[in-house]
Amino acid sequence: MKITIMANEMQFDRAAAMRIISEMLAKPNSVISLATGNTTQNMYKIITEEYINAPWDTSELRVFNVDEVMNVPRTPGKYCYSKIWDSFAKPIGIPESNVLMPDPLGDWVEECKKTELMLKEVGGIDLQILGIGENGHIGFNQPGTKFSQKVWVCPLLEEAETRILSGLESKPIGGVAGFTLGITDIMRARRIILMAKGSHKAQIIRQAVLGPISEDVPVSVLQLHPNCEVLLDASAAALLN
Ligand code: F6R
Repeated sequence: MKITIMANEMQFDRAAAMRIISEMLAKPNSVISLATGNTTQNMYKIITEEYINAPWDTSELRVFNVDEVMNVPRTPGKYCYSKIWDSFAKPIGIPESNVLMPDPLGDWVEECKKTELMLKEVGGIDLQILGIGENGHIGFNQPGTKFSQKVWVCPLLEEAETRILSGLESKPIGGVAGFTLGITDIMRARRIILMAKGSHKAQIIRQAVLGPISEDVPVSVLQLHPNCEVLLDASAAALLN
């Protein structure tokens, strides 16, 4: 693993944005799989600003997201598709047909199969961006997920489920669940960048980088990836000696 530590959050956000921009410039038909969440939010803003200043060709990029909430309709401002579309793909001109994310109201088994097929058709992921949960989750792959897991729909943690349901007018039949690329799909990416900022991530970053490789800490599998960078701000890196 290559570890890069930026002095502060602002530099972290810029470094994160520059990595994606340079991937897009170096390979205009790149397949990039993204992550939503607080860690990557500013990064998308910076990419968009750079694009507006000096646009580049984005017509051939293909975009996945590592995860999605299932059984809720696509809603502006909420869940993964809308976040990726509104804050990244649309403002930088990526065609809607190139945003390859599951239909959250589709059949779960079929959506997993479709994604596996799409991953094959595009020739795999060039760059996988990941955030990290404080318990070591990547995507929706929670502790205990098998490293052999492929794309799947899994139960959400209670806290996430409650938060999502509280924002809905009525509880969807069958409940909500998490669609996610599995550990196997993530590990097949040719390049991975794990991103973390803030002192609340310091402990799990230490485990991710220095701890034993274990299915109890899904992120630890990245130690086995031949081309993985861990991009941190100083706070998230505080416990790495
Ligand atoms: C979201 C995702 C999640 C987040 C993780 C960290 O698409 O894949 O695994 O990356 O929960 O979230 P933040 O960045 O909000 O701390």
